[in-house]
Amino acid sequence: MRKKFIAGNWKMNTASITGELLAAGIVKGLAGDTRVTVAVCPPFPFLSRIGQAVHGTPVALGAQNCYPKNDGAFTGEVSPTMLVDIGCQYVIVGHSERRQIFKESDAFINEKTHAALKAGLKVILCIGETLDERKANRTEAVLDTQLTGSLANITADLLAKIVIAYEPVWAIGTGLNATPQQAQDAHAFVRQRIGQLCTKAAADALVIQYGGSVKPDNAATLLSQPDVDGALVGGASLKVEDFLGIIRAAR
Ligand code: 13P
Repeated sequence: MRKKFIAGNWKMNTASITGELLAAGIVKGLAGDTRVTVAVCPPFPFLSRIGQAVHGTPVALGAQNCYPKNDGAFTGEVSPTMLVDIGCQYVIVGHSERRQIFKESDAFINEKTHAALKAGLKVILCIGETLDERKANRTEAVLDTQLTGSLANITADLLAKIVIAYEPVWAIGTGLNATPQQAQDAHAFVRQRIGQLCTKAAADALVIQYGGSVKPDNAATLLSQPDVDGALVGGASLKVEDFLGIIRAAR
């Protein structure tokens, strides 16, 4: 049985005080319940503070990005070892906003994945097609390219530290979520491809989150699909009650 995993990607939102209140509200609402794995991914400047707010609670801390080197002359970047140092357990890599706005390639995402795993982080690897790609019936081809490129040289033991987030770009921040069937089809495809690229056992154990306009009122049907093991939540992770509602739906 795969444990459901709900993660909040705060993106470039909150301030130090609102972030702390948000984290405290989630911790309070969870009341120690560990039936669902929960993580929050605040912006870099607040990681330390939010880390203190969730310390010793079931809420894990994640970062939204990293650079694939541990130190050096990389002005403005943050290394995986720095993230571990301040208490992060997870890092998101390959988010569509980074792929699109910052032109990150699968090869670069693969470098980040290896560096993050080596530092001891768990990786939330995002993949997903655009609307044009879906309309052109290229969804599976796109997911295949992203998986093969981003997961190059990932062995079964490394895959155990990776979560995949299927986030169709057209569903992100649009209020238009994938239907449960669309999500299930994509997730089943991802699991099957991972079975071929890695091992069947690794694919069976892999947690695959869905992301894209997940809200408390659509979470239960999405999460009831056999291959949907959780959610990577953007907008709705910024409101305590909405995020808790999605976690409740995952139980
Ligand atoms: P929304 O939940 O705001 O659509 O964002 C999804 C997302 O990009 C999470 O990484």
